[in-house]
Amino acid sequence: MGCKSANKPYMRGMVVMLYETAAHGELIKEKEALLKKYDEYKKSNLKLDMSRGKPSPSQLELSEGLLTVLNEDAQTRFEGTDCRNYGVLDGLPAMRKLFAALLDIPYENIFVGGSSSLQMMFDTFARHMIFGAYKGAAPLCTVKNLKVLCPAPGYDRHFAIAQCFGAQLIAVKMTASGPDMDEVENYVKDPTVKAIWCVPKYSNPTGVTYSPETVRRFAALEPAADDFRIFWDNAYAFHDLYDRGEPLLNLYEELKKTGKENMAYIFASFSKVTYAGGSVAMMASGKENMEFSRSIIEKQTICNDKLNQLRHVLFFGNAEGVYAHMKKHAEILRPKFETVLRIFERELAPVGVGSWTKPRGGYFISLDLPEGTAARTYELAKTLGVTLTNVGDTFPYGKDPLDRNLRIAPSFPEIEELTKATEALCLCAKLAAVEKYLSR
Ligand SMILES: Cc1ncc(COP(=O)(O)O)c(C=O)c1O
Repeated sequence: MGCKSANKPYMRGMVVMLYETAAHGELIKEKEALLKKYDEYKKSNLKLDMSRGKPSPSQLELSEGLLTVLNEDAQTRFEGTDCRNYGVLDGLPAMRKLFAALLDIPYENIFVGGSSSLQMMFDTFARHMIFGAYKGAAPLCTVKNLKVLCPAPGYDRHFAIAQCFGAQLIAVKMTASGPDMDEVENYVKDPTVKAIWCVPKYSNPTGVTYSPETVRRFAALEPAADDFRIFWDNAYAFHDLYDRGEPLLNLYEELKKTGKENMAYIFASFSKVTYAGGSVAMMASGKENMEFSRSIIEKQTICNDKLNQLRHVLFFGNAEGVYAHMKKHAEILRPKFETVLRIFERELAPVGVGSWTKPRGGYFISLDLPEGTAARTYELAKTLGVTLTNVGDTFPYGKDPLDRNLRIAPSFPEIEELTKATEALCLCAKLAAVEKYLSR
């Protein structure tokens, strides 16, 4: 992952001004200047949204061809399958092969579902709650003090799934190489710890790609619970911003070395490749897990939308087609990320306010502000009309213990709007920091 920007003093000519160490008088003056700017912003009635990591309209336009690819030859059959009809529960073989090639997982272990990987994660968790993680395992709803590990900052919707089933959420520290594996190894000694959420590549929201050592340590885990499962949500597997993407060691391969493929479920989707909410999602795991999951899924549905799967197969052709398409996304996204980072460097670094990740892919930048100022920054920004992801959302129970993390989503606004929003955010962050240091 991109490194974190460290606080460094601002030196323009002879001026050095770090808020944290500035004299009271200097801070008072700074606050006045910031408030003046803040009032000017207020008058401009901003209405800017940096809250959710959605593709922008120009990204969605890259996939226009999906809408016509079937019409061209009225193609509804493919390799012997009539995609208009019931059947082929595991998904169109060509679609499974495409995911197999992209993720380097055996075709036989891949199940292609509907359009949402999050739904597949929810359903997998729900199956564990109701039926247990394998035939004969105790349903998790019968486990007292059920616990799920939540690397934090992390993805709020993962935490929400476990919480909605009544599991206790245990925060695990995120480091620059992935979740703190000492903590993970320690927690899994507890037999009531049954799962962990992971976004291993360009993690939401830090942008961290797990190091090879982290992946190996995941593969080597010896949990006390034999129904412990890793929910490996590879949502940003193909989402590089730069030509040389960050490599992620293949967890499936690592697990296979010791015959433990069933310890993980791997998920991915094309939501941020083609259409968010209208793409194709998949999951994969060891043979036993897949057979068990399938035996329940077949009671739920006869098959998923194979016409949409066919559309994707025809639109991309092969894995190279997906990579070429993702380069077009990167052309749109990269300047947005760079805009935000440039403004942070210009506005926040000189006064020593916060530190931030510099992701080389994915959808988010994680901004850590001085402790105790994230909620205040959020409120100040909201008053200006700038919507940010809810403070605390990146932590279990929506509570950031240090009140410092903000998840920045640069993808949706166009550059002009993003520039205004980021500048306004920086102003609010600076004001909140000055207030904090003045109240010491
Ligand atoms: C880590 C992660 N997983 C899953 C999703 C949602 O995926 P899907 O659209 O396939 O349900 C998101 C969307 O932001 C995400 O950030």
